[in-house]
Amino acid sequence: MTRDLYKFAPKRKLTMDNNFWKVGVLFSKTGVTSVIEKTQLNATLLAIREINAAGGIHGRSIRPVVYDPESDPEKFYIYSKRLVEKDRVNMIFGCYMSSTRKAVLPVVENFNGLLWYPTLYEGYEFSNNVIYTGAAPNQNSAFLAQHLINQFGRRFYLVGSNYIYPYESNRIMRDLVESAGRSVVAEKYIPLNPSDDDITLVLSDILEKRPDVIFSTIVGSGTRLFYRKYWAAGLQPKQMPIASLTTSEAEVADMGAEVARGHITASPYFQAVDTVANQRFVHKYHAMFGADQSTNACCEAAYFQVHMFADALRKVGKINTESVRAAALGSFYNAPQGKIQIDVDNHHTYLWPKIGRVNKEGQFDIIDQVDTWVKPDPYLVNLQMTEPLFKASNDYQYEDHSSHTRH
Ligand code: ACM
Repeated sequence: MTRDLYKFAPKRKLTMDNNFWKVGVLFSKTGVTSVIEKTQLNATLLAIREINAAGGIHGRSIRPVVYDPESDPEKFYIYSKRLVEKDRVNMIFGCYMSSTRKAVLPVVENFNGLLWYPTLYEGYEFSNNVIYTGAAPNQNSAFLAQHLINQFGRRFYLVGSNYIYPYESNRIMRDLVESAGRSVVAEKYIPLNPSDDDITLVLSDILEKRPDVIFSTIVGSGTRLFYRKYWAAGLQPKQMPIASLTTSEAEVADMGAEVARGHITASPYFQAVDTVANQRFVHKYHAMFGADQSTNACCEAAYFQVHMFADALRKVGKINTESVRAAALGSFYNAPQGKIQIDVDNHHTYLWPKIGRVNKEGQFDIIDQVDTWVKPDPYLVNLQMTEPLFKASNDYQYEDHSSHTRH
């Protein structure tokens, strides 16, 4: 009886969607972090275009379903729900701010989707439903702390936007600084969308306390305001630099090279990276979005993660979450920054830490770098918060994977 029923059951209707691999894309074209998120959106669409131009995956193109969540965690939640419920998508490429990732997390966990997250963040998270392709704190904060202590001195001033990433990143930076016997002279927060007065207040406090270095976890449009006010006050990066993890080429272009010149960012990628894969990436990015547009680390991760997804999909031939995740974990890719790999256990990515300093063209001169990739350690389980970290960090930080040197 059952068999008969199956026999006469209508075949699944073939819709247009069967000709495509549909994926969701959630980056903000508007709102407080749109300057950086637009570059992530661009890079995602560039990678999809490349894959489709090369014949797609098993003869089917990737079709992105794109929404603008306006830099608002609530809208990230709403659109991610729409993607999985209405658009029937299980792969989502998106999110910049950690508050927006935290909003999408329950959705991908409940619906067993996979969020591909291409942004540095504060660590201390694991989800079976996320692949993390931006830097974990051991891949940027630890290297930056070491550099700043060696180059600039003892007294750190921490300032950030008022949300989870700055709070948690500052906690890590404070641990690193204090465990090396240096001090944090202040830790201040400003609104995500600060007024002129908010910035003025912080800057007068900085002028009063005169730290050796400012560690800024300000994100989005407040970045421009902060650096501009610092510049207008006649302060000198050589004496008291602003160091950051989030001030990329995109934020530098937004504030102007003259304003940003001399300040420091720790990141696994800068447009200046000298690899063949990066020359190709930058050339294509310029061709598609304009020669005046720079790439940056968040944009690069957005780009390579689509290619890693495509490689996984090509391998398994079906877009179900378990299959794609299994194929993606442990996989390698020749990214613009160098050869990378997604860690099987923690879902984060092996990356290449660097320190960049803004030059007069608004690009970063790479002033310090690690000559191998660094294993992601999002819970900092291997980080020893002791003075030797800064004297002989290479033992811990930069294990030699000599078979995976830069391309
Ligand atoms: C961030 O919020 N992860 C930059």
